[in-house]
Amino acid sequence: MAYRVPFVDPREHYRRLKPEIDHAITDTLAKGDLVLRQQLRDFERHLAEFVGVKYAVGVNSCYHALHFSLLAAGIGPGDDVVTVAHTFVATVSAIVHTGATPVLIEVGKDYNLDPDRLEGALTPNTKAILPVHLNGRVCDMDRILTVCRQRGIIIIEDAAQALGATFDGKGAGSFGLTGCFSFYPFKALGGFGDGGAVTTDDPDVARMVTLLRFNGEDRETGEYHYHGYTALLDNVQAAALDVKLSHLPQWIEHRRHIAERYRKGLQDVPGLGLPHFSEARHFDSFQNYVIRTKNREQFRQHLKDRGVETLVHWPKPMWAHKGLSLKDPELPATESICREVISLPMSAETTEEHVDIVVESIREFFS
Ligand SMILES: Cc1ncc(COP(=O)(O)O)c(C=O)c1O
Repeated sequence: MAYRVPFVDPREHYRRLKPEIDHAITDTLAKGDLVLRQQLRDFERHLAEFVGVKYAVGVNSCYHALHFSLLAAGIGPGDDVVTVAHTFVATVSAIVHTGATPVLIEVGKDYNLDPDRLEGALTPNTKAILPVHLNGRVCDMDRILTVCRQRGIIIIEDAAQALGATFDGKGAGSFGLTGCFSFYPFKALGGFGDGGAVTTDDPDVARMVTLLRFNGEDRETGEYHYHGYTALLDNVQAAALDVKLSHLPQWIEHRRHIAERYRKGLQDVPGLGLPHFSEARHFDSFQNYVIRTKNREQFRQHLKDRGVETLVHWPKPMWAHKGLSLKDPELPATESICREVISLPMSAETTEEHVDIVVESIREFFS
């Protein structure tokens, strides 16, 4: 069905960038630069500068960025890794695949790891904390860093949804041992297929991730240092991402403008929770605009009938998926979030007119 207000609009996204993107891709193809070439190195350098770290290593997804970060941190069987249950499953799967145990904790009102719960979740085996900066908002890294420094716990940031967001002026992905990013097509910086990156200030970690992504091989010597993986960020994707990265600051400003327009249009609607939280130390990039309502299914159907496309991230708690074999951590806040959240259209292509249609449709439902 064609929506009046699509959740995202990849055709319009491409149309606006076509000359630059076509040039980057055809130039890369014409040069025959397909694997581990200059375009990838350029993108990695620009990404590291953007995040505010020394190194960025491109990989084929945030899943692999997380997995490789955990391996580079020496995490494996017998270790506990604390993270939130309200996240995309890849965060937890990356922990499980190292052989470590995920310890799932509750999130606060802003959907991010609740620092008040952190101390209580630590065990003698806790080796790392994996905070997730959800929806384009960085966690309270001050409190998380304080706990981790006191106890010598490693931090790996899941910044899949937060490129360009900051806390105390520091970029998502620059606080921990590593930051892990996703360039899945509908991320604020999205490729034309899967992609991801690890950011770090640690040269040994950068080197290990660089080897792991290419079957463990040191390309200079031909030596295999590990049983690695096939997980490169493709050169042609890197060329396109490098073009898009130069637009990202304006796109984030646009997302913030759209978020503000939603806020103005919806703030007085009773029974609706909006994603505007304390701003004193945060610069939110609004990867998603997530609202809450107790009457979600009817509400969502109403928006669909008005031509407004929405998504739900995520309708049931992770542990309710039996195939994941996760223990029920009994997290009531996460459960009610799963029952109530709904994500409104939000992208660099969302227009003021789109917002006005959404706002009008929502007000109509609640009136
Ligand atoms: C919070 C979070 N972590 C991890 C991922 C995994 O990213 P990818 O699809 O690039 O593996 C995603 C993707 O949606 C995500 O939103």
